[in-house]
Amino acid sequence: MHFRYGLAHALEDVSLTVAPGEVTSLLGMNGAGKTTLLNILSGLLKPASGQVLLDGAPAPKGAAARVRAGVVQAPEGRQVFAPLTVRENLEMGAYLRLRAGQRAAVAEDLEHMLALFPALRERLGQEAGKLSGGEQQMLAMARALMARPRYLLLDEPSLGLSPKMAAEIFKVVRGLPASGCGVLLVEQNALGALAVSSRGYILTNGRIRFSGAPADIACDPLLREAFLGPDQGAKP
Ligand SMILES: Nc1ncnc2c1ncn2[C@@H]1O[C@H](COP(=O)(O)OP(=O)(O)OP(=O)(O)O)[C@@H](O)[C@H]1O
Ligand SMILES: [Mg+2]
Repeated sequence: MHFRYGLAHALEDVSLTVAPGEVTSLLGMNGAGKTTLLNILSGLLKPASGQVLLDGAPAPKGAAARVRAGVVQAPEGRQVFAPLTVRENLEMGAYLRLRAGQRAAVAEDLEHMLALFPALRERLGQEAGKLSGGEQQMLAMARALMARPRYLLLDEPSLGLSPKMAAEIFKVVRGLPASGCGVLLVEQNALGALAVSSRGYILTNGRIRFSGAPADIACDPLLREAFLGPDQGAKP
């Protein structure tokens, strides 16, 4: 798969698989093309060549159709709906199901999210824009999960979080495959991500430089030094 912004190649010859019931991590430096790749998978961007397959068939075109097909992205940064309350944000995540009249199921999922992210419970009625950075990050992830994704695309969910909060996020990510969800986890905290993943890819300058078992990345001194860096912050 290829992608260009204008004349610049953002992604070249990229091929990546996200398996259901697994966490796959995608690592790389700033500007490597990670967000671009997630945006292609979620249907926000169209590849110049190549295609996105979902269960072996071409994925439906466009972001809304991808969400309906179960591919949901929790975008980089906070991007919660700031003037809406925490509860309203969570309900927005289940918008399609609410519209289909599945109130009871949505209420059940909301309760499940509050169990996963207890910090959100006391803030249900609060404006999302007034949450702390870490709480907004959790809300963004919980909102994505409210859509009951079959594939969840997470863009740097631990960014800017304290080690303790990052560890909480990684713990939730680690538990997602149990429900059959396939997760693609983009992270700067490489060691934290690899610890909860069963497969890892390293992207540099728009190309996949390595893919394999997390242990092979974490144990290879050259890969470690080149891509993981000396200080990796929180481990789960
Ligand atoms: N809308 C855009 N128009 C033009 N160039 C862009 C656009 N978005 C990203 N780029 C460029 O494409 C490359 C990949 O960007 P991308 O955001 O995918 O990187 P990333 O790996 O997510 O980086 P980070 O870790 O900083 O989030 C960068 O060189 C970036 O400057
Ligand atoms: Mg990015």
